[in-house]
Amino acid sequence: MVLTLHKPDTATVSPCGKLTGTLAVPGDKSISHRVGILASVSSGISRVHGFLKSADCIGLLKAMEALGARTHLTREGDLYIHGTSGKLLQPAGPLDLGNSGTAMRLLTGFLSGFDMPVVLTGDDSLRSRPMRRIEDPLRRMGANLELMGEKGCAPIRVTGGALKAIEYEMPVASAQVKSCIMLAALRAEGTTTIIEPQPTRDHTEQIYKALGLPVTVRDQTITVEGFGPDGPVLKARAWDIPGDISSAAFWMVAAAAHRRGSVTLQNVGLNPRRTAVLDVLKRMGARIKVSPKKKHDAGEPVGEIRVSGSRLKGTVIGGAEIPNLIDEIPILAVAAALAEGETVIKDAHELRVKESDRIQTMCENLKKMGVAVEEMEDGMRISGPASVRSGGMVDSYGDHRVAMAMAVLALFSDAPLMIKHVNCIETSYPGFWDDLTRLGGHVE
Ligand code: S3P
Repeated sequence: MVLTLHKPDTATVSPCGKLTGTLAVPGDKSISHRVGILASVSSGISRVHGFLKSADCIGLLKAMEALGARTHLTREGDLYIHGTSGKLLQPAGPLDLGNSGTAMRLLTGFLSGFDMPVVLTGDDSLRSRPMRRIEDPLRRMGANLELMGEKGCAPIRVTGGALKAIEYEMPVASAQVKSCIMLAALRAEGTTTIIEPQPTRDHTEQIYKALGLPVTVRDQTITVEGFGPDGPVLKARAWDIPGDISSAAFWMVAAAAHRRGSVTLQNVGLNPRRTAVLDVLKRMGARIKVSPKKKHDAGEPVGEIRVSGSRLKGTVIGGAEIPNLIDEIPILAVAAALAEGETVIKDAHELRVKESDRIQTMCENLKKMGVAVEEMEDGMRISGPASVRSGGMVDSYGDHRVAMAMAVLALFSDAPLMIKHVNCIETSYPGFWDDLTRLGGHVE
């Protein structure tokens, strides 16, 4: 008889009287995806320190293995990627990218320049997310794509071929779309120009520069020179991936709002296109000290963030700030609930097409816990400070950032809170519960 043990998918988090400690959060998810793809087609063996060992990133590595790369994880946690020197194998079946929108959008662009049919698929959430945003520019480049799901969704069949450079003004501010086009552009004939409506995270640009690839950036215009159908020769190198500021944000908010909070987060990525969360928290009155480290790798600044508890006040979050903190909005909504006065989050339509409709799921959960929140089409309005009631149970709807944001809010509740569907946290932050416990929280 085979016995299968399922990890429970529900957690009960208790209120906590003190929140202190020092943590090194796991590696940056966006950078891990980009390095995982590019090291897989480099010539030679790349050593990657700090690669995020989460379900999304391991899923990406499995896909790269199906395409011919080999990977090896050491006991110390370093990842070695044996690249394919620019060639790819025809995978035996569809590539299942689980919950990762980044893997799906970036790989579709990357595979558009390879002359073989590949099907990319994922879980229910990923198969409900919009893919026309990459179909349009890739088709203009001459890529052969079929969105096999309903209403412009995955699975995607990509049969690569000869690509031509385009000039593309992006209708949405999306680093995934930008990076998808930048990856396709490497195997196109000519120079591709991409114009962003607002600045988004620029990890792909930084990695291209580190690899010596011809990329130029002027304000919100990025150009990439194509190498034609054979693509560039990428040399394997060592990568050092910093901790993910989006994961650090959960503890920043927890410490900032806690009267006995004092948390130090080490080795956090401080790329200026990712640090708006720090600006917002400072605006809300948080006591934050950032100490940048002198040495950093591949254009990615790194440093230590210390946060201690204070009284937070409401603020307005919107405009060009949104793409810079798009993944931090669920936890900033928690900060808003604990802050004095009104917080307005606007211009954030994109939240509706993340791993869940984050406007709806956060508003529903906050309401259940006694927070005064009003749902808006492009965001939410929150009045605090709430006296947080456990209300019994909330549901993450399978969204990792909603699950973690609600776990942090539970630390401030009047009674233990049960959170349904927490296994999704594995997609981005495998050690989340250990870190919560390390800081003084309690979870069952
Ligand atoms: C990401 C970009 C963002 C972000 C996602 C990761 C990336 O998505 O929400 O978690 O790695 O490029 P969009 O670019 O679609 O906004």
